[in-house]
Amino acid sequence: MDKYIITGGNRLLGSVKISGAKNAAVAILPAVLLSDGVCRIENLPNISDVFAIIRILRELGADVRMINKNTVEINPSHINSFTLPFEMTKRMRASSYFIGAMLGRFKRARVAPPGGCDFGVRPIDLHIKGFEALGAQVTMENGMVDARAARLIGSPVYLDKVSVGATVNIMLAAVKARGLTVIENAAREPHIVDLANFLNSMGADIMGAGTSVIKIRGVETLGGTNYSIIPDQIEAGTYMAAVTAAGGDVLIDNITPKHLESISAKLIEMGAVIEEFDESLRITMDKRPKKCNITTLPHPGFPTDMQPQITTVLSVADGTSIVAEGVWDNRFRYVEQLSMMNANIQVDGKVAVVSGVENLKSAPVFANDLRAGAAMVIAGLIAKGTTEIENIELIDRGYEDLVEKLTGLGADIKRVTINEPSAVKQAL
Ligand code: EPZ
Repeated sequence: MDKYIITGGNRLLGSVKISGAKNAAVAILPAVLLSDGVCRIENLPNISDVFAIIRILRELGADVRMINKNTVEINPSHINSFTLPFEMTKRMRASSYFIGAMLGRFKRARVAPPGGCDFGVRPIDLHIKGFEALGAQVTMENGMVDARAARLIGSPVYLDKVSVGATVNIMLAAVKARGLTVIENAAREPHIVDLANFLNSMGADIMGAGTSVIKIRGVETLGGTNYSIIPDQIEAGTYMAAVTAAGGDVLIDNITPKHLESISAKLIEMGAVIEEFDESLRITMDKRPKKCNITTLPHPGFPTDMQPQITTVLSVADGTSIVAEGVWDNRFRYVEQLSMMNANIQVDGKVAVVSGVENLKSAPVFANDLRAGAAMVIAGLIAKGTTEIENIELIDRGYEDLVEKLTGLGADIKRVTINEPSAVKQAL
């Protein structure tokens, strides 16, 4: 067990290099199953979710070589299993992508239900709807999702709700199906486009990724490729939110500014000054954030994965803000932790009323999930006193070298190992 110890009050100055996108990496790595050749993937984020997927690929029989901490070469030709037991799938949502990839390769998959952050119900009915539209039979057998198909035939699929996971999984199952698949109401996130570009670099025929209509014309085989993952817009947004809360002047390097449009727009509304360059941006903030209303929506709306971080900034803003969660049923659980740090936030279902306070105060808190943990780090950076954050293994899932990157910007943050959870964590 480790924890962060953060002493608040430092402005953030300097530059930070953004890593590859977690949600692109966890979709692209399972997609390697569909290749007949060796895939070299660069700009992989050095995070525990990536390690977990690499472990799964090795368990399935893939030959995986780490070239360096951000580059991997995978030869999937010896993969000989289409079964993923619960112990391999329980910790993250992305394990569900192996259903689509295995269906695409073996026309067979037996995968335990995925885990992942707890925001309430996280069904996969739209994933299954897509698989069945392509001709697969999907049942639950002994707690495992069991999918099989004599053949996969391209088909139109309408997604009742915009779903990143369902869009990814249907793409994976459709790239080698016979004929044309059209996904209507598809997710438009940057990581969807990155997956489509990766698959096309292997020889797939996908058009329209990034729009709400994606067309996939099935091909016989997919070859090896060399590919570099896009930068992580949520990691970038997290550092931008930290500067807006703590004040400072930071160059956010190795990004695609277009992927950050909705985040930049809101931080500018809160008083930050942002200057964009080709692959970086400079954000400066020298006053108290202004209040601002936020509604999270599928891309290109404001990303739900930035909701805890932006709410933390608003908790010390000048005035009262409304934050409406438009994607998940229960993504405000972290507010209880923020309230222990003097935040004044009233939550009613999917809406939070955030009354800005002069400052947060240090307290022993813990990470409820990945992005809630990132929000606690931002809270610690601005709170008076020294804040301790537990459960930080959840933050390791999506943030590479967090302590090194923040220390490089002048933050006072340390990672220490503890023997057992504190009374706070045990009590809750
Ligand atoms: C992905 O989760 C991300 N995870 C999440 O990021 C992110 O919050 C989410 O997309 C929304 O952007 C990964 O990419 C690994 P969805 P996913 O399917 O695919 C409902 C992070 O912090 N739905 O787009 O699970 C669902 O309940 C993580 O990096 C169905 O009803 O999200 C939700 O209300 C946390 N049926 C909405 O759709 C389905 O079959 C969007 O979910 C699937 C989803």
